[in-house]
Amino acid sequence: MTDDAALATAVAALRAGGLVILPTETVYGLAANASDPRAVAAVYEAKGRPSFNPLIAHVADLAAARRIARFDARAERLAEAFWPGPLTLVLPVADDQAVCDLARAGLDTVAVRAPAHPLARRLLSAFGGPVVAPSANRSGRPSPTTFADALEETGAAAAAALDGGPCAVGLESTVVALLDEARLLRPGAVTRAEIEALIGPLAEAEADAKRSPGRLARHYAPKAPVRLDATPGPGEAYLAFGPTPKAEGVWNLSPAGDLREAAANLFAHLRAADRSAPSAIAVAPIPHEGLGEAINDRLKRAAGFVG
Ligand code: TXA
Ligand code: MG
Repeated sequence: MTDDAALATAVAALRAGGLVILPTETVYGLAANASDPRAVAAVYEAKGRPSFNPLIAHVADLAAARRIARFDARAERLAEAFWPGPLTLVLPVADDQAVCDLARAGLDTVAVRAPAHPLARRLLSAFGGPVVAPSANRSGRPSPTTFADALEETGAAAAAALDGGPCAVGLESTVVALLDEARLLRPGAVTRAEIEALIGPLAEAEADAKRSPGRLARHYAPKAPVRLDATPGPGEAYLAFGPTPKAEGVWNLSPAGDLREAAANLFAHLRAADRSAPSAIAVAPIPHEGLGEAINDRLKRAAGFVG
């Protein structure tokens, strides 16, 4: 199918209350019309989310975002700098119908982002309204970063699927709440330093689960146990970082030691290592600066430690 035909099918599916596998620059999403509670309920069901955890509303651009959320000066500044792109803003809700209650898990706030992937942008423009899209994995599993992985996770629940190739970033968007103090709810592709350069210091996410839902301890988890800052033992798979001899059972996140490359490979390598049915997955130490904060956050959760 051509992109045009696939897009038309996807838009029709969204209008009919169906779900769509959606490529973004971060990870693949499972998309639905944000204003349709039945479609949104189907997303929660397809993911098997244990409790309702609010979803991100995806929009074509800043003008569309302003219709659903209240932007202050900080939000304007961040959106102008990083949109379209991998940054999600949690803001006071402006229109509680456009993004339905269920999508917001009943909160008076809404998470919004304008993704950069060209197919996602075309879909959002053609559909003309906000689309919720959590990562297309089943709850607790690594996010899919290829079309095949997305289909394997939740493809059965989707009425249409858009193949956008492998995701360039490979890690979910950074989530920043701008309700009182600016807070980093989830480290991601846009780094803490890039955000702080524009709006000043970020406070930590609150321990209060109601204000920071989705910060589950075990998350992004493969079937095999994950050991961090480790060297591999017998029978274990190894996620290496930096120059490492090639060998069976070794997946190198970045032979050159490049954090961008490691982020892009992280979930696909975790999945590939897991498919080899190892006794455990040992992961090399990853530097903590820049994108390393987000990579280490996902690895800690894959290993079952609270962030
Ligand atoms: O990169 C991404 O953001 C991907 C792609 C598909 O766009 N989507 C994604 O969605 O990662 P999801 O549902 O897997 O993660 C959304 C995160 C969750 O941690 C959720 O708790 C948080 O955003 N969130 C959503 N709405 C919120 C709100 N009103 N207040 C606080 N956190 C919120
Ligand atoms: Mg997710």
